[in-house]
Amino acid sequence: MALLEVKNLRIEYPSRHGVHAAVKSLSFTISRGEIVGVVGESGAGKSTVGNAVIDLLSPPGRIASGDVFLDGEKISSLPRDEMRKVRGAKIGFIFQDPMTSLNPLFTVEHQLVEAIQINLGLNDTDAKARALQLMEQVGIPQPENRLKQYPHQFSGGMRQRVVIAIALAGEPDLIIADEPTTALDVSIQDQILNLIRELCVKKNVGCMLVTHDMGVVSNVTDKVAVMYRGDLVEFGPTAKVLGTPEHAYTQSLISAVPRSDIKLDRFPLVSYIEEATEMKPLDVKNHWLGQSEDQRDYEGPLLNVENVHLRFVTRDSFFESRREYVQANEDVSFEIHEGETFGLVGESGSGKSTIARVITGLYPPNSGKVTFEGIDLTALKSEAERRPLRRQMQMVFQNPYSSMNPRMRVKDIIAEPIRFHKLAENEQQTTSIVNDLLDHVA
Ligand SMILES: Nc1ncnc2c1ncn2[C@@H]1O[C@H](COP(=O)(O)OP(=O)(O)OP(=O)(O)O)[C@@H](O)[C@H]1O
Ligand SMILES: [Mg+2]
Repeated sequence: MALLEVKNLRIEYPSRHGVHAAVKSLSFTISRGEIVGVVGESGAGKSTVGNAVIDLLSPPGRIASGDVFLDGEKISSLPRDEMRKVRGAKIGFIFQDPMTSLNPLFTVEHQLVEAIQINLGLNDTDAKARALQLMEQVGIPQPENRLKQYPHQFSGGMRQRVVIAIALAGEPDLIIADEPTTALDVSIQDQILNLIRELCVKKNVGCMLVTHDMGVVSNVTDKVAVMYRGDLVEFGPTAKVLGTPEHAYTQSLISAVPRSDIKLDRFPLVSYIEEATEMKPLDVKNHWLGQSEDQRDYEGPLLNVENVHLRFVTRDSFFESRREYVQANEDVSFEIHEGETFGLVGESGSGKSTIARVITGLYPPNSGKVTFEGIDLTALKSEAERRPLRRQMQMVFQNPYSSMNPRMRVKDIIAEPIRFHKLAENEQQTTSIVNDLLDHVA
């Protein structure tokens, strides 16, 4: 018997504009010890399926029809409190965004110990020992010190490892992992995937692994489910689906995977689209580039980061010798020239996001200098001095939730900087710029 059986599942999100069927009629199974990869473009309904299985669909989402069985028992219409017992003890889950699963108000230890005690009923001492063991298992250095910290003191990748530790805490039969390694660097990603793989084999745990990465699919999954606009277009053993894909969408998905042996000027795109939509060029380009090239009179590098050094105080004290620090950036220097795309890579927790925040002025460095077109940013003291530069430097954050106000409509979130910097003459033009930008990132 299958560990998980999803049968004719249909999931709808009702809205003022009508009902949107995010998942149309989906059926698949996962056996014990098996990793099933779920792939498909953004918006295909992958997360929706995972959330529906654990009864955590975001409102107003609902299962319109179909059933979910775990070990032969129907779990899709269980009362809330019974479902809560299934979650954690029988199904562990790892979301795309670690901050949604961690409570910012409690230490990591508190959250791990709680998960262990709820599911395994251990006493405090044993639960703490188990927490330490789990931290080591997911590869967090200095686990004793790290346990005492709060989630915001961890890097994005380390936070995700904590979430994985919590998911493993209840020793579940099934793990639902939604893009668990997207925020991690390649070496850590490998460790985490191997850990999940090992768990599935050794403990006979089943796993549903939602991912964008075809490399991950081919390396760790046994079967793969390909979703396209709410439908399952292909499902079968990984080698067969990747080797001889039947559906046109799967074929174009596979042919769009960049190859390391061929260097291309542009990344290939998934070409399969049910009904073709024409993409028009962005006609507001000049608004976003600021000054055009001939107006520039500064010759040097666009951005110059010189010997930046930043540390966070983890324990403050009046006495210097008793203060404790985490070193975030140590002597970082680089230049970025106009027209260049600069890649900053490094291990999880090595300080990549921190340096980006130093550049945009969110953190003042302890020492060192950042200049933009020759202007020393670290010397700008007030917001008024910084404002003219804000428009010229934009940050795209790792985690979209932290940069978007959940109470605002998407349209207004995008329109806000256009209004603020007075880039449009009227509301009508603002709307048209917003629409063009949305088309461009679609
Ligand atoms: N709370 C919600 N309310 C309304 N619509 C929603 C909600 N959550 C998801 N949707 C819609 O359901 C569809 C499927 O979304 P889902 O998040 O499952 O996609 P996904 O395949 O996980 O995409 P990604 O790869 O970007 O994570 C999308 O059209 C999305 O806009
Ligand atoms: Mg998703």
